[in-house]
Amino acid sequence: MVRIKMVRREFLLDTLNGIIGIWTLVVGIGLGFIGLRYLWPTGKTIASTGEEKVRIPFSEITEGNAKKIVLRGKAAIVVNSGGKIYALSAICTHLSCIVNWSEGQKRVVCPCHGAVFDLNGNVIAGPAPKPLITYDVKLIEDAVIIG
Ligand code: FES
Repeated sequence: MVRIKMVRREFLLDTLNGIIGIWTLVVGIGLGFIGLRYLWPTGKTIASTGEEKVRIPFSEITEGNAKKIVLRGKAAIVVNSGGKIYALSAICTHLSCIVNWSEGQKRVVCPCHGAVFDLNGNVIAGPAPKPLITYDVKLIEDAVIIG
């Protein structure tokens, strides 16, 4: 009788250990997969949201303002300043932070390390090694086409 209880106890403990082991393995694989996806966001994932050309109604980009868009899978910034529309990459050429339009400075500025660009993408100040990429801007009736 004692031997049967011992076997049953061992069986239950082994079963419980097996369930805990499988559960730990499944959770570990899941967390590992999530961690890898976070650490390696691929360009392919980003590109799936991009467009070859982007149409922006004038009403969305009034004088002195800017609008950020996704163009060909990458962040871009469209600025309306001095009666002209400019379209530039919004990815800083230093360490890839997303730049902002500063109406006060009339410049594109990077919030990370202070790079400053003019509306043609040229580096004015800061650590950025190269100018921002610029995109074609076409004006149509009530909108601009970027790209
Ligand atoms: S990432 Fe823009 S200045 Fe460093």
